Amino acid sequence: MPKIVVTGGCGFIGSNFLVRFVPKMTDSTFVNVDKLTYAGNPASVAEIANALNYEFARVDIADAEAVRALFDDVRPDWVFHFAAESHVDRSILGPREFFLSNVIGTVNLLEACRHLWKTADGHVFHHVSTDEVYGSLGAEGAFTETTPYDPSSPYSASKAASDHAVRAYHRTYGLPVVVTNCSNNYGPRQFPEKLVPLMILNALEGKPLPVYGRGANVRDWLYVEDHCDAILAAATRGAPGSTYNIGGSCELANLDVVHAICDAVAEGTGKDPAALRRLVTFVADRPGHDFRYAMDTAKIRAELGWEPRETFATGMKRTVRWYLDNPAWVDGVRTGEYRKWMETNYSGRTTR
Ligand code: NAD
Ligand code: TYD
Repeated sequence: MPKIVVTGGCGFIGSNFLVRFVPKMTDSTFVNVDKLTYAGNPASVAEIANALNYEFARVDIADAEAVRALFDDVRPDWVFHFAAESHVDRSILGPREFFLSNVIGTVNLLEACRHLWKTADGHVFHHVSTDEVYGSLGAEGAFTETTPYDPSSPYSASKAASDHAVRAYHRTYGLPVVVTNCSNNYGPRQFPEKLVPLMILNALEGKPLPVYGRGANVRDWLYVEDHCDAILAAATRGAPGSTYNIGGSCELANLDVVHAICDAVAEGTGKDPAALRRLVTFVADRPGHDFRYAMDTAKIRAELGWEPRETFATGMKRTVRWYLDNPAWVDGVRTGEYRKWMETNYSGRTTR
């Protein structure tokens, strides 16, 4: 029975990964390793919490001794490494935590695996990363797996450093690693500081929809379940040491995303879509705001036969439905800490 450590399994993507695969992969045991930061929410994995092949361990991956002790005890065969500080705006206001969790945390996990795994056989360290490591594109082109790294924010710089560390452990020690770099995800269980859930919840409550700059920045959007399927495909069928770009081939300017969210919320609630669109408020831009991300996903499509199942319209409909159907989850994450963050991030952004 393979033992699988999933770090950050109470966060957005990690929880979707566990909810998707714990019930399907009953011949494997999953250990969810999470510090439970503001972004980690046990309610996100409530539906698998009592599964016989699932355990939870509250551990800070930046604590080397705690990681080592846990790995010596669990002796995982595979690691899916999702845990990270993940929000660009928070990284601008306080970068230090990002380097501790994302860089030191990753190195601690790599060290624990290096000591545990005497041969590469039967093991995979799957590192979950982002397209933001490649920097910003102009109007043309797309990132490939060989695009040089050029990160802009403290978040993307910390992820870039962690990617390099993972590849160094492969080249130096032969650790069996796979790296995936993915574009922007949306879907159930995403903490409402990120664009999509923030706009859904604000639209539901008739609050302003704060769009940075003029809303012209472009992101490539992927439904979270499609990302999870791509990760499993890359970890189980990708060659050791390989990298795959993952993306939705769905480039949209932020203002178009917000308008689509307004329309999906209107459809789900019977509200007037035009009235929701009038909630859009242009606010001061993010410093160092990358203009455009786009992924060339030819490699994962050709080598692993992966492709996204959801379109932006179907994925957004499912996402809005999930937030409407889960008011207790929403109430649970919007604590005093959340209100403090909203005040800190948005009060300094003058409305134009
Ligand atoms: P998230 O912020 O929703 O969740 C992160 C999780 O990691 C939380 O449960 C948190 O408690 C945990 N965590 C943070 N620091 C920790 C530490 N020191 N020790 C243990 N646990 C810790 O993030 P997410 O959106 O689910 O992203 C998961 C991974 O996917 C990240 O590595 C991120 O860089 C990457 N990624 C995210 C996106 C996206 O659009 N969200 C896109 C591409 C890649
Ligand atoms: P975000 O969800 O923070 O993801 P990332 O910065 O990792 O791409 O932001 C997505 C885009 O939306 C990004 O261009 C910034 C923009 N944005 C807004 O316009 N308003 C907001 O309130 C937020 C959170 C983001």
